[in-house]
Amino acid sequence: MALYSDLAAVYDFMYQKLFDYEKECQFYLSQLETYRCKSIIEFGCGTGNLGQNLMHEGFDYYGLDISPAMVELAKKKIPEHKLSVGDIIDFRSESIFDAACFTGRSISYLVDDQSILQAFKTVSLHLKPDGIFIFDPIDGDRLFKNFDTEEKIVEVFPYVRHARSKPLDHKKYTWEWTSEYYQQEGNTKKLIGKDTSTVRAFNTKILDPILSLAGFEIIHVIPKASYIWDDHYYICQKK
Ligand SMILES: C[S@@+](CC[C@H](N)C(=O)[O-])C[C@H]1O[C@@H](n2cnc3c(N)ncnc32)[C@H](O)[C@@H]1O
Repeated sequence: MALYSDLAAVYDFMYQKLFDYEKECQFYLSQLETYRCKSIIEFGCGTGNLGQNLMHEGFDYYGLDISPAMVELAKKKIPEHKLSVGDIIDFRSESIFDAACFTGRSISYLVDDQSILQAFKTVSLHLKPDGIFIFDPIDGDRLFKNFDTEEKIVEVFPYVRHARSKPLDHKKYTWEWTSEYYQQEGNTKKLIGKDTSTVRAFNTKILDPILSLAGFEIIHVIPKASYIWDDHYYICQKK
């Protein structure tokens, strides 16, 4: 995924404008307070934009991401010993947390049910009994009701992204997402990178049985608006 390797610094710059990390942090803080959690592991921590806030609020925080380039940038915001490079599918450590999250729609990159099950099992292994797990999948029902294949242009000066979506499997809610990233210099736009990923959206009907197999129960599903493709927060509890 070029967006999280060669373009990691561009991601960090653009998404601080596209995602509302402050609002997101407030949401996570309110949930951590509700469930009296003091420690949290963030899977798909990216460049640390949410984690740095959770840490500053006094939580015992640990972040994991599959991309070395993203973790390298996160280290500038979060102490090194609180981060590691790893895949949610097979990450193992001795540490146990009160809460876990898989943030910024990172679950979109797990496109087959087996990978999702393995990922949820990893989460469960790092949670105490009754621990809380929060993640934010894109809403497949809404996205695929009227799938939009039109090119979308997003500008966060000096960067511009041209993106297109092509549906792959309507039943599994998968699509191919292709983007070109440009940097503006005066009146010209220079191509700086391309990214093509297969991604997946979800609904409760897909997620509930997989969560259940991994030992989780859904407690709440809360709508979450975004700059593109609405999603939901799933609040789950380890049974
Ligand atoms: C859209 S970004 C979100 C990053 C961060 N949570 C944020 O909100 O800015 C998706 C992140 O998921 C990470 N990711 C994708 N697949 C992963 C996996 N199997 N295990 C861990 N991280 C993964 C990517 O490297 C990327 O940093």
